[in-house]
Amino acid sequence: MIPGIPQKYGNLQTFLKKNGYKKCGSGSYGMAWECSDGTVIKFFENDRAYEDFVKYCRLSRNIHVPVFYSGVKKIGNYKCVRMEKLSNTRIRRRITIANLIQEKLDGGVVSVQNLKFFNDHPRLIKVIKWISKTTWSEDIHYGNILFRGNVPVIIDPVAH
Ligand SMILES: Nc1ncnc2c1ncn2[C@@H]1O[C@H](COP(=O)(O)OP(=O)(O)O)[C@@H](O)[C@H]1O
Ligand SMILES: [Mg+2]
Repeated sequence: MIPGIPQKYGNLQTFLKKNGYKKCGSGSYGMAWECSDGTVIKFFENDRAYEDFVKYCRLSRNIHVPVFYSGVKKIGNYKCVRMEKLSNTRIRRRITIANLIQEKLDGGVVSVQNLKFFNDHPRLIKVIKWISKTTWSEDIHYGNILFRGNVPVIIDPVAH
């Protein structure tokens, strides 16, 4: 078993490693692996909130959500979806952005930094509106904010 990974993914991980996939990261519900063609496959077991988000992303065409190349598919015991590869460096910046997004979701008085950030990224507000309208819980932290170049991308903002 690989440390830090839920045991349920053990066999799948062995298979992916043997077949040349590279792990990008994992969270409480799933894991992401890079394929040889540069795309990423996100695997998960049971995450209706995420499936809902994927549907929203595929319809919204918002630059601040991931590009998915397929709908969610079930393969054996897992579900998966193919998506664009995003960057997970710049942790400090991602923490700051997660805080700014949370502040906006909370809807209280906001800082000048917050006003400037949303002024610079106006299309993020649409994603925030979607998050606040769903019945899922919010799940905003730096692990769920990645980058496409300089563009912040929310990859997984809701949880069940
Ligand atoms: N498209 C992607 N490109 C690069 N890394 C990714 C991608 N999707 C997810 N990851 C990495 O995998 C981690 C877990 O993905 P996430 O979708 O948040 O799963 P979970 O539902 O378990 O939280 C992320 O924090 C990130 O580091
Ligand atoms: Mg996550």
